[in-house]
Amino acid sequence: MIHTVTLIPGDGIGPEVISAARCVIEATGVTINWEEINAGGEALKHYGTLLPDALIESIKRNRVALKGPITTQVAEGFPSLNVRLRKMFDLYANFRPIKNMPNVPCRFGNVDLMVVRENTEDLYAGLEHEVVPGVVESLKIITERASTRIARFAFDYARKLARREVCAVHKANIMKMSDGLFLNCVRIVASQYPEIKYRELIVDNTCMQLVLNPQQFDILLLENLYGDIISDLGAGLIGGLGLVPGANIGVDGAIFEAVHGSAPDIAGKGVANPTAVMLSSALLLEHLNELEAGRRLRSAIEGVYAEGKHITRDLGGTATTQEFTEAVLRQIDSI
Ligand code: NAI
Repeated sequence: MIHTVTLIPGDGIGPEVISAARCVIEATGVTINWEEINAGGEALKHYGTLLPDALIESIKRNRVALKGPITTQVAEGFPSLNVRLRKMFDLYANFRPIKNMPNVPCRFGNVDLMVVRENTEDLYAGLEHEVVPGVVESLKIITERASTRIARFAFDYARKLARREVCAVHKANIMKMSDGLFLNCVRIVASQYPEIKYRELIVDNTCMQLVLNPQQFDILLLENLYGDIISDLGAGLIGGLGLVPGANIGVDGAIFEAVHGSAPDIAGKGVANPTAVMLSSALLLEHLNELEAGRRLRSAIEGVYAEGKHITRDLGGTATTQEFTEAVLRQIDSI
């Protein structure tokens, strides 16, 4: 079967890691017709707009995309296109598996946790305004509908993959109404999954627990902002952002992308670690029901780490993006 997938290379290290991922996906034998259309600064140069209509139409048609990171300016410039795409296609669930790789120097072993982050509301609703000069207001939107559906996603996922526990992370001791509503919705859903353990933890304590004993966690269920922050913290536990994949899932579509950003400090140097985008590609293959290819790609990546000869610079090795990619291709051939 031929699949058609929208490909958004992004900017910074995006095009380098996306092209590496495309190579290894193709090596699994799955045939993909890529519709490549960029967004962000690169799209502005070619199409005169940050988010071309052709890209929106392509995602609507294909309902699945592989995306590289897109740079967003800090405290100025256009609003994040990443957030805009997630909201536009109502990709309400962001999930990010955080798991150790062999031979990666890091503080903890046996980490295997999953961040499930609400992706459409909270402080990312983008509702900010100046009340009077010197005073701005940013609205935190929490709804029963979004909280319930992300909770259902987390518990369904736990049930499907036989995971043991869901831990809801909150600050309802202070934000009694907004985080309180989130928790109430999660509790109702949790009661419908009696076989899955459920607990709640305040976000600041969660941070401390994560850096003391991350192995205690299984699935972390969070609102948008806490989920964003805890994802990077989780990446740090296992060695860095180069390793953590992600998926944005909605009813009518899915966009697969790494947790990391465009890494301007190393862009164009050929040293970016493509693992996170490759692991996101394995999730994409599974989403396309190419289960065997997804498994093969993940095993090939793990094989390269187990061999330990082609580790990239961010994880203490010397391999370039290309050397790492070639090593994955050899592993795919040998599986
Ligand atoms: P970043 O994730 O781009 O980089 C943080 C640090 O991790 C840097 O030192 C970078 O070199 C390193 N790093 C990240 N990915 C790596 C990889 N694959 N291999 C080796 N090293 C890697 O985060 P930063 O610097 O905060 O953001 C840069 C830009 O990316 C910003 O404009 C931000 O808005 C954007 N961004 C975009 C995202 C997306 O498109 N989904 C997600 C996160 C940030």
